[in-house]
Amino acid sequence: MDWGMANRLAQLIQPDGHALFLPIDHGYFQGPTRKLEAPGKTIKPLLPYADALFVTRGVLRSSVAPGNSKPLILRVSGGTSMVGKDLANEGLTTSMEEAIRLNASAVGISVFVGSDYEKESLLNLAKLVDDGERCGIPVMAVTAVGKELEKRDTRYLALACRIAAELGARVVKTYWCENFEKVTGGCPVPVVMAGGPQVNTELEVFQFVHDGIQKGSIGVNLGRNIWQNEFPVAMIKAIRGIVHGKATPGEAQEIYDSEKGKKGRRS
Ligand code: 5RP
Repeated sequence: MDWGMANRLAQLIQPDGHALFLPIDHGYFQGPTRKLEAPGKTIKPLLPYADALFVTRGVLRSSVAPGNSKPLILRVSGGTSMVGKDLANEGLTTSMEEAIRLNASAVGISVFVGSDYEKESLLNLAKLVDDGERCGIPVMAVTAVGKELEKRDTRYLALACRIAAELGARVVKTYWCENFEKVTGGCPVPVVMAGGPQVNTELEVFQFVHDGIQKGSIGVNLGRNIWQNEFPVAMIKAIRGIVHGKATPGEAQEIYDSEKGKKGRRS
């Protein structure tokens, strides 16, 4: 691997082999998502605990201070919306030249395996990988399911992750599922987990993050279950405890409970 590619991956994946990415890209198809209406305000207290930010160029330029940021994964696919015909019909929105200008450590793109636009999204990934490899920029593929959240089962996610890796993604982002070792075991590149919509309790989040890491995931790309929580700093610190500190779900709950009691922690 050439130096630039290796260096960028090392900015994202920490020396312990793990990673905590903080995604705030949701507005690119959802608009002003709850608690992300003002992204700069949302991320300010969270940034110290994140290894990287997953963000579009628009929010980056408008809302993230260049002098006080974290390594960037630039979201470069889009072109659809929640109210449009089909979320899967994405294209590439941002050039590799722009990614370089913005000093991105990686670029991220969604693929929609099994959708009407499967082929287009996979060929977009392949094209992005060609451009990224030429410039030394890793590509993170996002195995997206659009509005069909029930698709998130082991067989489907293992299939989608493997295909993304086969097409050259350097990192794959997917959802946690039962038997997660089947997803990581069939994917020859690092896998990070997203959370999807906020779940009922913090403990559920700690349990799936912990289980996924035990089963081979390198960490998380976790958004709503952090910044939509009533105590987002407590939440990210607890997740960090699991990702980088080997905390159990019970220990993460203790971190959360003690942090949420501190002054100014409520969002
Ligand atoms: C949105 C994304 C998000 O980055 C991803 O889904 C992670 O966020 P969350 O944990 O909120 O699901 O790709 O398009």
